[in-house]
Amino acid sequence: MPCNVVVLISGSGSNLQALIDNQSDSNPARIGAVISNRADAYGLQRAHAAGIPTQVLSHRDFADREAFDAALIEAIDAHQPDLVVLAGFMRILTPGFVRHYQGRLLNIHPSLLPRHKGLDTHNRALAAGDAEHGCSVHFVTEELDGGPVAIQAAIPIHPGENVEKLTERVHLEEHRIYPLAVRWFAEGRLRLGEHGAMLDGEKLPASGHLIRT
Ligand code: GRF
Repeated sequence: MPCNVVVLISGSGSNLQALIDNQSDSNPARIGAVISNRADAYGLQRAHAAGIPTQVLSHRDFADREAFDAALIEAIDAHQPDLVVLAGFMRILTPGFVRHYQGRLLNIHPSLLPRHKGLDTHNRALAAGDAEHGCSVHFVTEELDGGPVAIQAAIPIHPGENVEKLTERVHLEEHRIYPLAVRWFAEGRLRLGEHGAMLDGEKLPASGHLIRT
C-alpha cells in the first residue's frame, strides 16, 4: 500500500528534493502534493519538475494564525495524506493544527535536539564550542521543536570550521535522514507511541535512531 505524503515548504526545498530522489518502486512513500506559503519558494519548481501537484497558500491572505491554519488543513486534507512532512516550512503551527495531524506530522530540525531549539542553530553550536552538531527528524507536538525524535545524525565539528561549511555538512545529513524517516514511516516501521517514537515496535531513545559519522 503506498503511503500518501504531503510536503509543506517555504523555501529552497533541498529536503523536498531528497525525498523526491528517494521515491522508487521499493519505497511506499509517494509525494501526492507540495504546498508552500510562499509563491517564490524554489521548491515549487522542484515539485513541478517531478510532476507533483503544487499549491500556494499565503499566510498574508488570512486575518490570523487560526484562519491560516484552518485553510491549510483544508488544503492538505484534500489530498487525504497518511503523512504530512514539514520541509523548511517557516511557520509556527497552532495547537489545533498539530493535534489534527498527531502521529502523522514530521519535521526536520538542524540541530541535535534537545540542544539548540529555534533558529540560527549552526552559529549557536559553534558559539557554544560544541564538539558535535547535526540534525533531527521528529514528530511534531505542541512544544516547538520538542516532539519525540525519530532519527538523529551527528557529525563532529572540525577545528576552526566556519558556519557555511558546517551548514553545508549538516544539510547533507538532513538529506540522508529525512528520506529514511519518511520511508520507515511509510513502511509502518516508525510510529508515535504513547510514550515516544517507536521503531519496529521498540521505543526509541531520546536521540531517536542515532547515526554518527
Ligand atoms: C533545513 O535546514 C531544515 O532543517 C530547516 O529548514 C531548512 C530547509 O532547507 N527546518 P530546504 O528548504 O529543505 O533546503
